Amino acid sequence: MASEQSGRTELPLQYYLENEYQSLIEIFHWVANLAGSVYTDTTAVVSPEAAYAAAPLSDTHLLSQEFLLNYKHSSLDLTLPLGVGGYFDFPARSSLSLRHLREQEEKAGRGHIVELPPYQNVNASLGVTIRARRSLRTFTGKTMPLRTLSTLLFYANGVTGDIALVSEDNDPQWPTYSLGPTEAAKTRAASSGGGLNPISLYLVVRDVQTLDDGIYVYLPVEHSLKRLATFDDEARNRHLALGVSWGPNLDPATVNVTVYYVYSVYENSRKYGDLGLPFAVVEAGEIAAHLHLISTATKVGSSDIGGWEKVQTERFLGVDGLSRHLVHATVIGML
Ligand SMILES: Cc1cc2nc3c(=O)[nH]c(=O)nc-3n(C[C@H](O)[C@H](O)[C@H](O)COP(=O)(O)O)c2cc1C
Repeated sequence: MASEQSGRTELPLQYYLENEYQSLIEIFHWVANLAGSVYTDTTAVVSPEAAYAAAPLSDTHLLSQEFLLNYKHSSLDLTLPLGVGGYFDFPARSSLSLRHLREQEEKAGRGHIVELPPYQNVNASLGVTIRARRSLRTFTGKTMPLRTLSTLLFYANGVTGDIALVSEDNDPQWPTYSLGPTEAAKTRAASSGGGLNPISLYLVVRDVQTLDDGIYVYLPVEHSLKRLATFDDEARNRHLALGVSWGPNLDPATVNVTVYYVYSVYENSRKYGDLGLPFAVVEAGEIAAHLHLISTATKVGSSDIGGWEKVQTERFLGVDGLSRHLVHATVIGML
């Protein structure tokens, strides 16, 4: 079984798995499940069980718990009121208006733009659709029509209206100058804190009619896609390899569109401070909920995915992981 080299004994992986692994896991579970484990503060890996069991005694928390303990704890914390208060002047209005300009600039800059065809007017009953929605993970791998993708994106996060930016009585306190259109900002299918829309939808496309396989970003104001990369076999395989961590019940090769929700931190934290993160995660969830319902109504399969590798996927998408972060993913496939 074991091979000896220069006084060291090497155990084959199979031997370890068969003889050592199970007992180590048992010790791990025993320690982790001690009520009020004294080991928690000195343990390098804080498992969910250990953090849960030791909560009353320990200084060690899950990172998310640290976050919850420290944000919005009192109205004396001026971060939020100052951020919100400071927002109701020129920079705020220009920031909202700039959204159009930024998208126009995005459109004019590098990268091929694909105008999406008009979305389909979907009349499905909302109650029936909500009852029918299920996470689906078995796809046929058939080609997705471009109009289907247009419909999914429009109902998920497309522009559905305008919001007035000037006060009704033309209050002179409200400045009228702005770097973009002064009267209105665009509103979307899914709601967003302050209308700031910090979530962008990055799409990895495989076999969608007329689109090259590759990476795209959805431009809601223009209802267009900007192509960031076209895939060769190597890039296609790298993305399929990322799909291995999505779990065994899904074949990544059958997914037509993987939707990645990318949060641009300063887009909303400039106004909301630490509240920006929970807002962004809520907003990604709202967009995802729309995506699932419109998928159900148009008989397309969809499922959220929690198993993505953050750093590797961000690198693959060209997202810096500093001011922009991957926060969620949804797969979509033809049934
Ligand atoms: C944040 C989140 C992450 C999820 N991650 C996965 C996943 O990695 N793999 C998967 O097959 N389903 C995943 N799902 C789907 C859930 O398993 C599914 O919603 C749950 O089993 C309930 O089933 P239903 O959506 O059909 O009602 C995820 C759902 C959410 C909201």
